[in-house]
Amino acid sequence: QNIALGPYTHYMQKEIFEQPQAISDTLEGVVGISSSIFGHETPAMFKRLKRVLILACGTSYYAGMVAKYWLESLAKVPCDVEIASEYRYRESVPDKDTLVLTISQSGETADTLAALEHAKSLGMDMTMTICNVATSAMVKRTRAHYITRAGVEIGVASTKAFTTQLAALFLMTSAIAKEKGLLSEEEEKARLKDMRHLPEAMRAILEKENEIKEWASVFAQKNNALFLGRGMHYPIALEGALKLKEISYLHAEGYPAGELKHGPLALVDAEMPVVTVAPNDELLEKLKGNMEEVRARKGELFVFSDQGCNIQPSEGMHVIQLPENYAVLSPILHVIPLQLLAYHTAIAKGTDVDKPRNLAKSVTTE
Ligand code: G6P
Repeated sequence: QNIALGPYTHYMQKEIFEQPQAISDTLEGVVGISSSIFGHETPAMFKRLKRVLILACGTSYYAGMVAKYWLESLAKVPCDVEIASEYRYRESVPDKDTLVLTISQSGETADTLAALEHAKSLGMDMTMTICNVATSAMVKRTRAHYITRAGVEIGVASTKAFTTQLAALFLMTSAIAKEKGLLSEEEEKARLKDMRHLPEAMRAILEKENEIKEWASVFAQKNNALFLGRGMHYPIALEGALKLKEISYLHAEGYPAGELKHGPLALVDAEMPVVTVAPNDELLEKLKGNMEEVRARKGELFVFSDQGCNIQPSEGMHVIQLPENYAVLSPILHVIPLQLLAYHTAIAKGTDVDKPRNLAKSVTTE
């Protein structure tokens, strides 16, 4: 028994269960939403910015994809999210009034650091990072930063770093919205309240572990899986697929559910489990239509719904309902069952969960 693991079998499992604490640590001391939380230069930067360019890799890139939905809908700021290794080598059109934001757990990822330097060399001087390591190169090379307080993450597959990045990104989005006069006092209070509720909401979801474990025994028998989501849950579908690939070696793909008919539907048959991220939002009815397309091809659905969705389990349709509806913070919560699904599928398959083959925790070379 490894003392550091406490009651857990693997670091990944421990880290999944540490998320409520990691979120409250990350938001500790935040008494109001203000641009100065991010450093003394950020009030001026947030006022000046006309666009945001997010640069990241892997799971951190998916956090950036969620942030794009938030930034454009809540702060009305156009946002591009780019894979660092692509951005650094392509010709792009720089814009001085762009906030360049890197997202990184380690703060040492070579591609992300190089992409940051590339952006700077193009004359973009407003740089910021959301990072889990205060002493990292990323923090040293950016003008503003927000340090997530996930604590040390050991499992190669990122979990608590991701959800804390999302919490920081939501806080940043709200601060930019406030700077631009788009956040009323009432909304600010409501957002703070919702953020403070996250740990409790997470704990209630973590209690679903046993139900998810049962699903995992089905996935462990399969070779492929599809993950569907819409809107700001599309990146969550991508992250769910990535987690499954990384540690259970199943081939998994994430798709925006509306794209199903443009290709992946051809893969759907009785052997294809289809995970659906199905929060009760304005896209739910559309999503239900996509689910019918899957059922019509005998694809088996594994649906994570939430309060008020009214999706009943039936033949070929498995449903786990999360206890609440989480509105705009929903991606932070809906990713948790997907982490647990990947974890338990890997356990059922007997893979090396914390150290998956061919992967490294931090990729410091190109
Ligand atoms: C590696 C890790 C991933 C991580 C990515 C980016 O590929 O295995 O879990 O998401 O690097 O790392 P960073 O430290 O920059 O977030």
